[in-house]
Amino acid sequence: MDPEAFVAHLPLCRALPKLELHAHLNGSIRSSTLLELAAEHSQNGAVSYPELVSIIEKEKRSLPETFKLFGLIRLVTTNHQVVTRITREVIEDFAAENIIYVELRTTPKNNPAVGMTKRSYMEAVMAGFNTDSIAFNRIYVRLILSIDRRETTEAAIETVRLAFDMRQEGCEIVGIDLSGDPAIGEWKTFLPALTLAREMGLPLALHCGEVHNPEEVKSILDFHPERLGHVCCLDDLEWQALLASKIPVEVCLTSNVATLTVPCVADHHFVELYKAKHPIVICTDDPGIFCTTLSREYALAASCLDLVSEEVVKLAKEAINLSFAEPQLKQTLHQLFDFSHLKQAPSLPIGAP
Ligand code: IMP
Ligand code: ZN
Repeated sequence: MDPEAFVAHLPLCRALPKLELHAHLNGSIRSSTLLELAAEHSQNGAVSYPELVSIIEKEKRSLPETFKLFGLIRLVTTNHQVVTRITREVIEDFAAENIIYVELRTTPKNNPAVGMTKRSYMEAVMAGFNTDSIAFNRIYVRLILSIDRRETTEAAIETVRLAFDMRQEGCEIVGIDLSGDPAIGEWKTFLPALTLAREMGLPLALHCGEVHNPEEVKSILDFHPERLGHVCCLDDLEWQALLASKIPVEVCLTSNVATLTVPCVADHHFVELYKAKHPIVICTDDPGIFCTTLSREYALAASCLDLVSEEVVKLAKEAINLSFAEPQLKQTLHQLFDFSHLKQAPSLPIGAP
């Protein structure tokens, strides 16, 4: 990756209207908020502040260390007010960098100690963006409900039913995700819930191939979800099956490098996917945890692929078709994209020798 090309691409990538299709709510938390909450909770002994700071400050951490950090975040994001606050801040941050549509994913959580159910958790999330604030007039927010790989079949089914019920009630829920520590859990545990989601008309965006697990990858590909996240550790057979399937891939460059899932951005498999004209969408995964932004991820991708500005715009616009937005909203996003791109995007020397 050429650092000069990366810097040259940044202004266009910031100005571009963008769609974020793979971001976890609690992975998008502002570092300042996380540290503030951790300081409060360290007083009652719930978390070790120095431990949290030392993990946050590490530029690269393995996948197990990343999940340790998620465990610590869980300890400080326990009540409804905090969930609402984090959601509001995350959406404000996305809107501020010209993201016009986000599919924010989060794991509905039970916490009987504070009277939290999976439903009340989701209501607290929605309270974070159903406001009259100016920032929220500029961004469409949709939700994907995550099943955590630590959950049982019954708990996963509860999440799918909740998604279905809330969508029927008019909530902004568009799909189901399977995420969490890839070293935990088995595909067959979640299959009944994912099958039910499909029967209920809920599209699936599943994490896949974060660790080497050919059997699971094969089962996921055979199941043919609407989108896949990561697909980093695929053997040749699964790789060929992925290419043949044309299942769109959510690419999270910084996340994959930071968790040491791929060695560096230049060697990332998205280069091959792009060259093979496989549908891809650039995403952040956990911008708070990995200290990145969607603009930065686009600039990384553009410099790696050696794109000219028209190609960057095309890549960003294709995200509309890969989103789970309803057809009418897709049309609106196309119009919004063309309008704001023409209005804002500076003409840049990108691609110039
Ligand atoms: P939440 O669902 O809003 O609590 O967001 C944080 C959760 O997302 C983590 O606890 C994980 O379950 C999941 N998550 C975030 N990043 C990743 C990833 O890279 N791989 C798998 N799961 C992830
Ligand atoms: Zn993810």
